[in-house]
Amino acid sequence: MRLTVIGTGYLGATHAICMAVMGYEVLGVDVDTMKIEKLASGEVPFFEPGLPELLTKALESGRLRFSTSFQEAAEFGDVHFICVGTPQQKDSEAADMTYVDAAVTSLAPHLTRRTLVVGKSTVPVGTADRLAGLLHELAPAGTDVELAWNPEFLREGFAVDDTMKPDRMVFGVTTAWAEEQLRAAFEPVLAQGVPVKVTDLKTAELVKVAANSFLATKISYINAMAEICEATGADVHDLAEALAYDERIGGKFLRPGLGFGGGCLPKDIRAFAHRAEELGVGQAVGFLREIDGINRRRRARTVDLVVELCGGVVEGKKVAALGAAFKPNSDDIRDAPALDVAASLHRMGAHVVVYDPAAMDNARRVHPELTYAVNALDAARDADVVVLLTEWNEFRDISPEVIGAVARQTKIVDGRHALVPAEWRAAGWEYRALGRP
Ligand code: UDX
Repeated sequence: MRLTVIGTGYLGATHAICMAVMGYEVLGVDVDTMKIEKLASGEVPFFEPGLPELLTKALESGRLRFSTSFQEAAEFGDVHFICVGTPQQKDSEAADMTYVDAAVTSLAPHLTRRTLVVGKSTVPVGTADRLAGLLHELAPAGTDVELAWNPEFLREGFAVDDTMKPDRMVFGVTTAWAEEQLRAAFEPVLAQGVPVKVTDLKTAELVKVAANSFLATKISYINAMAEICEATGADVHDLAEALAYDERIGGKFLRPGLGFGGGCLPKDIRAFAHRAEELGVGQAVGFLREIDGINRRRRARTVDLVVELCGGVVEGKKVAALGAAFKPNSDDIRDAPALDVAASLHRMGAHVVVYDPAAMDNARRVHPELTYAVNALDAARDADVVVLLTEWNEFRDISPEVIGAVARQTKIVDGRHALVPAEWRAAGWEYRALGRP
């Protein structure tokens, strides 16, 4: 069985590389020539632990190639995976389907034999039905083409493990043949005992947005509790730990702090709320707007804490911002809470100096107005306030004494509850964290 992967961003590149390592012949396809050239020469165009080594292995095996030609893709593949992005539209909360539609319209006219096209991108429910219609309309008459949906749940930073051994697989299909093809395409994954849920197209589409909405809800729930803690002097960190002992609640995705960002959770909950409104059932997920609101307020509250530590005015003060990526082990700055906070402080007149172990190039490109340091100590030199915004291990390991020796004032806002307050206070720091007294 030969596979094509259309779209070689975070999702597609990881999927293509992992499938080749697992033994399939894979062709990665993208309209971005630069991306294709980089991947073909063995370079992963983004930061993902473990992936560069696997790309080398896959290229050396001869099973992985890259191309910009949809005709080549159609001739090569028995199963085509669509892994293109569905970002938020510029002037709406809806997801932008341009790339998904383009993938189908570019591929379909070249298909000449019985083929399965599998959507993996996160899409509004109902998209698969529409794409199936488009496929049948555009594929040459007499070509037997089917559409299936196989949502992807990988997390950045754990993309390889999540692809090789996911928690579950979801196959949205309309025929037994499509299910057989998917089972064959994921044979090495399923052989490890990974559970598979076979369902219809719409349910498969919904599983992904329902899962992401649930995760976002958990994070905003604990951050809502942080707001209550702030009003009462209680400690949300202890509260979260105590809640987590109840197995029905669980401790995962219950880490309070600056909240969620990235290319998935924020735009997925907005697109879901928007789609539900289109379907006339907006009320059912109206709470997602509140989830979004709580999440945004955490960013504003972090800015407030920095201002408080600066004595009420940040203008002219130097703020060391540790972190730019939306989470550690990633260079992704899409909707990154860290950069949102840094940019707000800059707009208020602070001199903001940013350091991140992996996301510096991306941050510089999008926020050229900020200043960038070569390491955490360099960022903290002469700082009036240090604010930890992304919980890289490198920042957890910082010695309060060492950084205290270079900062102008020993004041820190721990936006991610990543540090041990007692250690910092013992070293003379004024330590503040969201939702902690
Ligand atoms: C998410 C989903 O986890 C994944 O299943 C889906 O396929 C894509 O979206 P990802 O965006 O890579 O993955 O990041 P994730 O690890 O989920 O973190 C999202 C954000 O939530 C980060 O900004 C993180 O800092 C924040 N977060 C996470 C919290 O603030 N608290 C938590 O307890 C957990």
